[in-house]
Amino acid sequence: MASAGDDNLFTGPIGEEYDFLPMICPNVVTVTTNLGATVAAWRPGAALRGLEIGCGTGTSTRSLLSQRDDLNLLAVDASPAMLNQARENLASYARAGRVEFIESDALVYLRALPDESIDLVASNYAIHNFDHRYRRELFAEILRVLEPGGLFVNGDRFALDDHALQLASTQADVRNMFKVFGEAKRYDLLEDWIVHLFSDESASRLMYSSATLSTMRALGFADVRSNYREGVDMLVTATKPSSAARDID
Ligand SMILES: C[S@@+](CC[C@H](N)C(=O)[O-])C[C@H]1O[C@@H](n2cnc3c(N)ncnc32)[C@H](O)[C@@H]1O
Repeated sequence: MASAGDDNLFTGPIGEEYDFLPMICPNVVTVTTNLGATVAAWRPGAALRGLEIGCGTGTSTRSLLSQRDDLNLLAVDASPAMLNQARENLASYARAGRVEFIESDALVYLRALPDESIDLVASNYAIHNFDHRYRRELFAEILRVLEPGGLFVNGDRFALDDHALQLASTQADVRNMFKVFGEAKRYDLLEDWIVHLFSDESASRLMYSSATLSTMRALGFADVRSNYREGVDMLVTATKPSSAARDID
């Protein structure tokens, strides 16, 4: 069985002080807003059953729920530290029955879901954390659980296909981390985020843009496209083909 890797650093100090993220990754704010806006614009008027993978502290969950009243979400995350914050931050949505928070490994949870039982799957800045094998299995499971015509939307860090540009982007990230955490005198968080960056950038995990979109198409997703890109930050959408379209293929 593929594993996500046992170094989910969101279980430690990074997860407890996650509010630093927009300072070290400013495009996160735009991507997160666009994630919710994309779902809000999809199939207007239809009540939707959604699944969010790696909901974290609930920032992306809030973007999804606040922009679409007829969306109900299952929000999965493997880190208790992150989920506790999400439960607190989105208590009113939980009380209203709009969201159920689930502590689980994403792939384990997906495997237990029936075929074609979800209208849309959303994720924000989680899937780049996974290794290639886990990510491929995750995409295959997302496709299986989506109903025909269902939507997959992923806001995330996608490595630049040009290796020199990707290196320059990583170097800029490191410099910015030293600036942000140095000014805050938070060398403990600096250390953890640099270690986390090394993990994300390792050969077994780095999520290159073109290769990832090609993998999704090869697995059977349709309409795979980037809707926003600024540096490594990108919002990708894809759909599960309807039965009729699959029969024609
Ligand atoms: C960078 S955070 C993003 C959180 C949130 N989506 C946001 O936009 O703020 C990534 C999240 O993915 C979660 N995660 C990492 N590996 C996971 C796994 N195998 N299964 C479920 N969640 C996982 C982490 O615990 C973390 O909360």
